[in-house]
Amino acid sequence: MSNKYIFPEGFWWGSATSATQIEGAAHEGGKGENIWDHWYQQEPDRFFENIGPETTSDFYHRYKEDIQLMKEIGHNTFRMSISWSRLIPGGRGEVNQQAVDFYNHVIDELIANDIDPFINLFHFDMPLELQNEGGWESREVVKAYQHYAKIAFELFGDRVKKWFTFNEPIVPVEGGYLYDFHYPNVVDGKRAAQVAYNTMVAHAKAVAAFRECNMKDGKIGIILNLTPSYPRSQHPADLKASRIADLFFNRSFLDPAVLGEYPEELIQILQEYDQLPITENGDKELLKAGKVDILGVNYYQPRRVKAKDHLPNTEGPFMPEWFFDLYEMPGRKMNPYRGWEIYEKGIYDIMINLKENYGNIESFISENGMGVQNEERFAENGEIQDDYRIDFIREHLKWLHKAIEEGCNAKGYHLWTFMDNWSWMNAYKNRYGFISVDLHTQKRTLKKSAYWIKEVSENNGF
Ligand code: NOJ
Repeated sequence: MSNKYIFPEGFWWGSATSATQIEGAAHEGGKGENIWDHWYQQEPDRFFENIGPETTSDFYHRYKEDIQLMKEIGHNTFRMSISWSRLIPGGRGEVNQQAVDFYNHVIDELIANDIDPFINLFHFDMPLELQNEGGWESREVVKAYQHYAKIAFELFGDRVKKWFTFNEPIVPVEGGYLYDFHYPNVVDGKRAAQVAYNTMVAHAKAVAAFRECNMKDGKIGIILNLTPSYPRSQHPADLKASRIADLFFNRSFLDPAVLGEYPEELIQILQEYDQLPITENGDKELLKAGKVDILGVNYYQPRRVKAKDHLPNTEGPFMPEWFFDLYEMPGRKMNPYRGWEIYEKGIYDIMINLKENYGNIESFISENGMGVQNEERFAENGEIQDDYRIDFIREHLKWLHKAIEEGCNAKGYHLWTFMDNWSWMNAYKNRYGFISVDLHTQKRTLKKSAYWIKEVSENNGF
């Protein structure tokens, strides 16, 4: 690899956030309840230190100040999401004018500061009423989502040019229907498959609504968390296990989003185990037309896969884990402050895969980052000396640079996240931001990595 890493002109430097994780004002401004507000009220003990979604960095009231900080650290782009239950309390029906005003102000403020807003429509935060109707299991909810998407395009599409239908759509499937870390805490493989499928139908319907808007210069995409699947060995059983993990965790969304259809092998497996979702006439064509213009890639860590040591117990609910085991690859590098693997080359492997097998779709790193527990321990004179995060970002950027040099169509890099934020069940356990926040005083402090990224963004490389 070269020793200078200069990125293509116009490279997107920024960070990613989501409404529920930063806005706060959970019961203000006419917002309706979403599943997080509800679940927290039901079971506060399931959240780290009992901290719920009303305790955030309060972007709802402090967006001006925060946008100044974005500018200060060199952002030219910023990803946020719209809270569906804020814009349309209850999920369908009346639009909430206070929400329209809020998002208009944020978008205008970003643009006035030369920061291009990227907007995602769904980041795990289903309006409660719609969840009560069955959430993504219900086609009526899919329709309501299409309507919501259309309203958002109409309201903000004159200024917002990068749109995303979903962030990590597999996570509500895993969390809500397989592994019990999101509401509604169901464990049922078949329902999980239905949720996964309906989400992609919803995605395709939003793409259709977007195309109808004929937005000048606008692009529509999706954000997927891709976890490259590496087999333990070249033994056919390990290779098969790794391929199946890839089918479940990556290709179940990547293929329909970019190629417009599901992988045949995945359909066969689901069919063999009687897990196929219910479909409707016209879905195939709809999915075909739902191909994205742009793909956001969230990359944190790979999946190390081996063949199963023992036959799975297939009496319980259907699980992807019936087909593979995970293993701890000897010598792998770990994040000592969170316990996830760090494998920088994964970012390159993803990009090469997109180039070779997915038409070199326009893409960007929409999330990458390093979670750290008890990060205050690294503070000196109040400023967190996060050299580990600088190393983490720099090493990933080197691999991204190499991919670009080899012709991959990657347009930017967004860190997760701008400012330490509330992270679902983990609340504030793992800190990810360029900026720390004191939740009692709301004081923001730049970490060392913020000064570093400022320089990198301004030089368009390092
Ligand atoms: C992915 C998600 O998009 C985001 O909501 C989450 O907080 C981060 N990863 C960190 O786990």
